[in-house]
Amino acid sequence: MGTSTAPRIASQISYSDLYARWERGHWLATEIDFTQDRIDWQEKLTEGERAAALWFFALFFHGEDEVADDLSPYVEAAPIEEQTYFLTTQQVDESRHSVFFNRFMHEVVGLGDGTPGAGLQATEGHLTWGHRETFKNLAKVAHELHADRSPEKFAEAVTNYHVIVEGTLAQPGQHMMEAWLERRGILPGFLAGMQKISVDEQRHIAFGMKTLSDLYETDPVGIGDVIVDAVRTSGAALMAFAYPSGGRAFLEPMGVDLAALYGESMRALDSRLKGIGLTGEQRQRAMTIDPSLSFGQQGERVLQLLDAGYVGDGTLPKSKRPEDVEVLFSMIANVIEAYPPKDGTVVQFDLTDVGARHYVRSGGELEYHQGPHPAPSVSLRLSLDDFADLIAERANPVKLLLLRRLRISGDRGLLMGSRSIFGPAPGTRSKPTRAASPKGLALLRSALPYPGRVAQRLVARPAAR
Ligand SMILES: [Fe+2]
Ligand SMILES: [Fe+2]
Repeated sequence: MGTSTAPRIASQISYSDLYARWERGHWLATEIDFTQDRIDWQEKLTEGERAAALWFFALFFHGEDEVADDLSPYVEAAPIEEQTYFLTTQQVDESRHSVFFNRFMHEVVGLGDGTPGAGLQATEGHLTWGHRETFKNLAKVAHELHADRSPEKFAEAVTNYHVIVEGTLAQPGQHMMEAWLERRGILPGFLAGMQKISVDEQRHIAFGMKTLSDLYETDPVGIGDVIVDAVRTSGAALMAFAYPSGGRAFLEPMGVDLAALYGESMRALDSRLKGIGLTGEQRQRAMTIDPSLSFGQQGERVLQLLDAGYVGDGTLPKSKRPEDVEVLFSMIANVIEAYPPKDGTVVQFDLTDVGARHYVRSGGELEYHQGPHPAPSVSLRLSLDDFADLIAERANPVKLLLLRRLRISGDRGLLMGSRSIFGPAPGTRSKPTRAASPKGLALLRSALPYPGRVAQRLVARPAAR
């Protein structure tokens, strides 16, 4: 692993400066004037715009509420006093953001009775599968932080909160919404609030980067692994976060270029990881993307996978178009390359309805071939539907194995272990820290070595999504 040449963020940020910026940046969510917003919402927005905007705003409203709820363990676990002080200011901010969104929902859209509980309830139906999974994971990690205040667990928790939720999901979305409001010249109260929220979030993200950068410097390999694993674990939910059930056409009235938004999110994530100090190798392992493509092109690819029904909430039919299947396999190549197997290894995916594909690791490169290989090192045989469900973490692979819808031949060891073709298996790390309960391929890896555990896990997790 090479040493980082990226500019580390720690030297440019101090906790006391972040605190002082909070004191100077006070604003009042209860005094934003929504008079013009009420008129605009009824008269200037088209029906399609109202539906799309309400959907976006609901994702934010619930996100703000969730992060406000989950921050207490961070305050308790922070090892440095100034971190504790800052985190208490952040907790106030997140509640204020939630109050702002609730006011908008009630006073402009006419939802709920003005109490946050009723506002949340009235907007819950808009949440995506990716949103629910992301915040389920954040709540789980926050809960674990109560009992485990190790630097590794703190790093994992801050990665999930400040880097993934705030830095990757929220901030690019805020900028996109601000741009839409400015372009259309509508909802001035909402825009004013969003601009205040953006400044607050900038501070929160800076805190997270400073904290992680300092932790990373003490242990670039161990903390680096924790950060990489946290990002990898959240991948399936991240891709599905801002994708409407039923397809992206729903967002067209708002003029949203979802592929550009996804590209911007990936660019933001990469630059945060770089600022923390992660090496290029660590960043690529975390994000499992093809480094030869621009972030815009990466965004297009993720959208193609979502449109094809492979990743996401599973409500769209899975495409069997060759051009979509090939994009899926190019993503798998990136996943394999994150922890490359030794030279000569052949990994095959024998899909019953669209044919076999295999990868050969040769001369330090990964070659991709259509069709079957005469002697693969390991081969997985299953339908395209089940394969996509596995990749997107919607299916329980143990159940697929028991139902014989998934058959594995060859060296199963290639699917296991900390440097397996699918990356670190849960529980194989030397330090007792993991981001989330295993799902999808991670669950497959953890179940494979012990047949007894297969039955045990099936009992423990009877329902596949
Ligand atoms: Fe917030
Ligand atoms: Fe925040």
